[in-house]
Amino acid sequence: MFPVNFLWGAATSAYQIEGDPLAAGAGASIWHQFAHQPGRIANGDTGDIACGHYRRWAEDVALMAELGLTAYRFSVAWGRVLPNGSGAVNQAGLDFYRRLIDALCERGITPMLTLYHWDLPQALQERGGWQHPDSPAWFADYAEVLIRAVDDRVPLWITLNEPWVVTVPGHLEGIHAPGLQNRAATPRVAHHLLLAHAAAVTVYRALGRHQIGLAVNLEPQFPASASAADQTAARRRDAFINRWFLDPLLLGSYPPELQEIFGADWPNFPANELARIHGIPDFIGVNYYSRGLVRADATEQTLGARRIKPQNAPCTTMGWEIYPAGLTETLLGLRERYGEVPLYITENGAAFIDADLQAGVINDAARVNYLETHLRAAQMALAQGVDLRGYFVWSLFDNFEWAEGYAQRFGMIHIDSHHGKRTFKRSAHWYREFIQRGGF
Ligand code: FCB
Repeated sequence: MFPVNFLWGAATSAYQIEGDPLAAGAGASIWHQFAHQPGRIANGDTGDIACGHYRRWAEDVALMAELGLTAYRFSVAWGRVLPNGSGAVNQAGLDFYRRLIDALCERGITPMLTLYHWDLPQALQERGGWQHPDSPAWFADYAEVLIRAVDDRVPLWITLNEPWVVTVPGHLEGIHAPGLQNRAATPRVAHHLLLAHAAAVTVYRALGRHQIGLAVNLEPQFPASASAADQTAARRRDAFINRWFLDPLLLGSYPPELQEIFGADWPNFPANELARIHGIPDFIGVNYYSRGLVRADATEQTLGARRIKPQNAPCTTMGWEIYPAGLTETLLGLRERYGEVPLYITENGAAFIDADLQAGVINDAARVNYLETHLRAAQMALAQGVDLRGYFVWSLFDNFEWAEGYAQRFGMIHIDSHHGKRTFKRSAHWYREFIQRGGF
């Protein structure tokens, strides 16, 4: 059973849905810069138009209300508020989010605000971005501007979305902005992100009145065979993906496997910085999509391991195995390793090739099934006493899926690419009824 005050939400992020990234004095972000480099994004897509949410936000809030959402997770584009990343505040940018938050509150939809969902101001990238030792201070200053502006109406704050994705695809693999392949810099980027999180939490605890946490991407790792090599590979990948950020935060030290993985590129981080990072957030946001099936592979330079595609298992169009049991396991595993920390599922959802619009409806039966089975998995963790407080579908709309552009569709709401017209898919209707019933 889901508790009565359980939050039923959907999630989005600024660059993925807003469009008009340079409107009203906004400064460009690294994703704007990256998406405009030829060859970076599938089909040459950019976030220039996206879902047009920057213009249609009022209509979109009305849709959320129609859907019956009791919460909405969105992110703020740092560069709309601080065009140079630090210094002068752009009032017009701040006002955009103020209006959005007011509209949500008027409809009784609880705002959950993510401060950083990957769109660093380009001006800060030019000063070194997350590699710069001042980056935590830049972030804390930006957080302070927002906390002062909207904390009275925003009860749930997230510092960073998926710092692992910022670190690895962004700075090691080069497939996300800023597009770097700099192994030597990678551990420091992660460390600065953790310090940035900690610095923002410190500001929040001084000024804020509600709750602040962070959102991490978690996927349980399984060895592809019983061989010792595959088991080691799975353990390493678990440290690399699931524990890199949570261990220092909640336990005070990095998993030892990281030193093994990075060898001479792993710095000797000072104890006082680790102590600053160590601190229990008010909640952890869990972004869950799939599991990892892991095989040892010496040709994989950093990890010595790779994720393989399981045979005959159902997958989404991202190639991610549909594995609902992994969600229960992830939620229980968090409590086992880190103790009782309140949890939200801040993202869960799937990309599919949806059926065409017919008689006003898109029958996305596969998405309904994905959501339903994962909600059952969440319910199983609740039944075992996990302090789970809300669930956010990724995503409200089909949107700009980073390096995949608009080719991968995660939305419960379809958006017509010519006119931006919004249409509920069957999953949206299903979710509305589910929320109305308060569960199964
Ligand atoms: C997560 C991101 C989110 C979206 C989903 C599919 O890693 O946080 O923005 O791209 O994956």
